[in-house]
Amino acid sequence: MKIRWQNTVCLMVGISILWGCDYARMREQESIRTYETSMPEMVQGTVPIQGGLQGLRETDLEDLKNPLAYEGASIDQGKRAYGYFCIMCHGPNADGNGTVGQSFYPLPTNLKSEYVQVQSDAELFYAITFGIGRHPPLGYTAAGRDRWAIVHYIRFLAKKSGEN
Ligand code: HEC
Repeated sequence: MKIRWQNTVCLMVGISILWGCDYARMREQESIRTYETSMPEMVQGTVPIQGGLQGLRETDLEDLKNPLAYEGASIDQGKRAYGYFCIMCHGPNADGNGTVGQSFYPLPTNLKSEYVQVQSDAELFYAITFGIGRHPPLGYTAAGRDRWAIVHYIRFLAKKSGEN
């Protein structure tokens, strides 16, 4: 009983100490308040308008090359990333038979097909990044290196299957 009584006192002292803290200062900051009309002046050049995905959109696909070498490590990276970002629609064999993909019209493309394989790395990278037809844009979902590595991986699958 005695211990409980002491706990209560400690708790009350604790609360009163916290109560006394000056939380009002939290309100004194730069953020815009509700209904406040004046906008802070942005320093020139703060908001990027070039580079990133916008820069890629303006790049000539002829000049865009896969920065990763076609080798075991990048193919493995592509395989891993394919498992995260593509498998649900294009399927484990990249033939367009993924579970989620079956509810799309048109169905996801067979990535080993000639139609896909004749495209350059840059064209495939571009289609994955910005989407095409019913294809979702994945530029903000999958990192650039992963997207390039996936391109190697789908080439590897096509070669392995002998389809193209
Ligand atoms: C949400 C489902 C979905 C996901 C996820 C998805 N795709 Fe697709 N993909 C599609 C569909 C549907 C099409 C057919 C689009 C069309 O023709 O309208 C397609 C088409 C393609 C094409 C053919 C593009 C062309 O030139 O016509 C490529 C290449 C491709 N996907 C690669 C990928 C890769 C690589 C990934 C993973 C990074 C991926 N897709 C993730 C649904 C998906």
